[in-house]
Amino acid sequence: KSRGYQAWLTEERWKNTARIETVRPLLGVVSASVNPEQAVGAAAIEEMVNGITSFTGIHPDVTVTSGPALMVIGAKEKAESVVQELNMYTLKEEGYVIRSSRGQSSPFVVLFGGSEKGLLYAVFHFLRLLGTEAELENLNIAQTPRNALRMINQWDNMDGSVERGYSGGSIFYRENRVLLESSRIRDYARLLASVGINAIAVNNVNVHHEETRLITDAYLPDVAKLADLFGRYGIRLFLSVNYAAPMELGDLSTADPLDEGVQQWWRDKASEIYRRIPDFGGFLVKADSENRPGPFTYGRDHADGANMLADALAHWGGLVLWRCFVYDCHQDWRDRQMDRARAAYDHFRPLDGRFRDNVILQIKNGPMDFQVREPVSPLFGAMEHTNQMMEFQIAQEYTGQQRDVCFLVSQWKQAMDFDTCLKGPGSTVKRIASGELHSYRYSGVTGVSNIGDDDNWTGHPLAQANLYGFGRLAWDPDLTAEEIASEWSKLTFTSEGRVAAMVTELLLESYSVYESYTAPLGVGWMVQPHYHYAVDVDGYEYSKWGTYHFADCYGIGVDRTISTGTGYTSQYAPVNRERYESLEKCPDELVLFFHHVPYTHVLHSGKTVIQHIYDTHFEGVERVEAWVHRWQELKNEVDSERYEQIAERLGWQENNAKQWRDVINTYFYRKSGISDARGRRIY
Ligand code: GCU
Repeated sequence: KSRGYQAWLTEERWKNTARIETVRPLLGVVSASVNPEQAVGAAAIEEMVNGITSFTGIHPDVTVTSGPALMVIGAKEKAESVVQELNMYTLKEEGYVIRSSRGQSSPFVVLFGGSEKGLLYAVFHFLRLLGTEAELENLNIAQTPRNALRMINQWDNMDGSVERGYSGGSIFYRENRVLLESSRIRDYARLLASVGINAIAVNNVNVHHEETRLITDAYLPDVAKLADLFGRYGIRLFLSVNYAAPMELGDLSTADPLDEGVQQWWRDKASEIYRRIPDFGGFLVKADSENRPGPFTYGRDHADGANMLADALAHWGGLVLWRCFVYDCHQDWRDRQMDRARAAYDHFRPLDGRFRDNVILQIKNGPMDFQVREPVSPLFGAMEHTNQMMEFQIAQEYTGQQRDVCFLVSQWKQAMDFDTCLKGPGSTVKRIASGELHSYRYSGVTGVSNIGDDDNWTGHPLAQANLYGFGRLAWDPDLTAEEIASEWSKLTFTSEGRVAAMVTELLLESYSVYESYTAPLGVGWMVQPHYHYAVDVDGYEYSKWGTYHFADCYGIGVDRTISTGTGYTSQYAPVNRERYESLEKCPDELVLFFHHVPYTHVLHSGKTVIQHIYDTHFEGVERVEAWVHRWQELKNEVDSERYEQIAERLGWQENNAKQWRDVINTYFYRKSGISDARGRRIY
């Protein structure tokens, strides 16, 4: 396996041979006790043994007995009192404790899980300690995930393509076949489990003809095998379904959620699925969105639509993940009141309390569509009586498409820490996602995957950090971006030498660098339409799929205020509403999202909008150029495979940044007629 393929689950031997001798007494013995009926237990043992062997070359003696989810590494007898104490604990199903001995003689480590899943997470935690060559003495670790649902959405199609995929084709499908023979799917499950992911939807939310058939005899046997593969790593499988499936599969002439025939059809479908896949997770649904079918066709609303599916799944414990990405994709530039940003809240908020308790509304982090900078969606947390989960996009659709480095954990952290003030100060997004603020029955976070069948999974080797970081943040939103970046860099590039530190720095700068050379001050959308990479300032401005910035010779930005604009700010709780409504209080980074201002408007930074645009675009390029040089210094410290891949992509990023700088600067220079205060070259 290539180094890129191993990702952060490194199989590399420690260079420090003295350390290997020191840990030999500890890592030479593994005594596990698990429930033999739980495949997850077997996976935990296998991961531990393989991990120890990879890092140290030691082949431990393994004994497995049947009992509570527990593993003792090293001197089992010495661990007895710790084990007895831990046995009295009641841990949550996915929680775990790791304890180790103090002295050097007869060392031991005890890993104790709330279930086999908890034990698997404990094993991966311990392997992270081995991977970063951390101290193994005196450990006293207790962890439970903050979010109950930590999910991945694959946007994979059965023809083998991936919607918004930037790293090759699908690892799941090719030419309408499920690629069950491939070890990649299993290795993907391992990667996901190692960062605590516990659910996955395995097909694109846009469910086309062939994928509609995933819930039929034609494919269910294969889907069951997929579910089993993921189930071994504690990951529950979901399918995206086509709302019009009863019609498209040729059975009925309607998909009306209030039609009894339709209800019966879905009930039968659910029992058919659960007969084959007893732990099936449920359905992910994109309805009435971007031309997908949905309940609107029948004059029904989203609660009618979601509840009908929820009722069909309820008996089996299944969930409906209902997406709120619902908006009118044909806007009219003449109508300055019309605002796509308002749509999700306007559609869903009035329905609070009408959804079944096995429905979860899946809400994109921003009100638009995964732009570099957006405010947090005002719908998030605004429905006290309706389960919600937040959707992030790990795939870098608008953030460099895995050619440019953009460490999205920085962006997600800001969203997670945002205080909605919906129930007074401290009503942060992370407390809503975790179900603390409104005591939701189900909630969590989901991320659109960034992997494909490229050998290194993500195309850009540094894009692996986004997948890793998503899982870690979903597990514990209190981790900092620094902690996550540094952990990933050490695991991926060894903790010795300068590489991990340099990569960590680069990752932590990258979100602000990417933002600086692209669309300014929260305005977004200045990308090539449909394709979404590279600059095209007016691409969407003049497209029928209108998403506007309204730049002209007088000014730029979208007026979303209550007083003179679309009224979008009214969707926030008072503190945030006032902040965004007021041009004086609105944070600089979002000023053009909320306001239309002249180019001479002075920001809090003291700069005018136009000067800010020039400065950030020049600086963005300079910072990428600096990365290129810093990376060259590491030439002899990184394996040539990854060194070259990263060097090549940094070169692409430099070109992309220059392209953005030149097009943006000349565009705004010519619109505004105001020259750069520093007299730099503008085309
Ligand atoms: C974006 C993306 C689409 C995707 C959609 C969605 O608009 O460009 O490809 O289908 O989001 O989230 O459903």
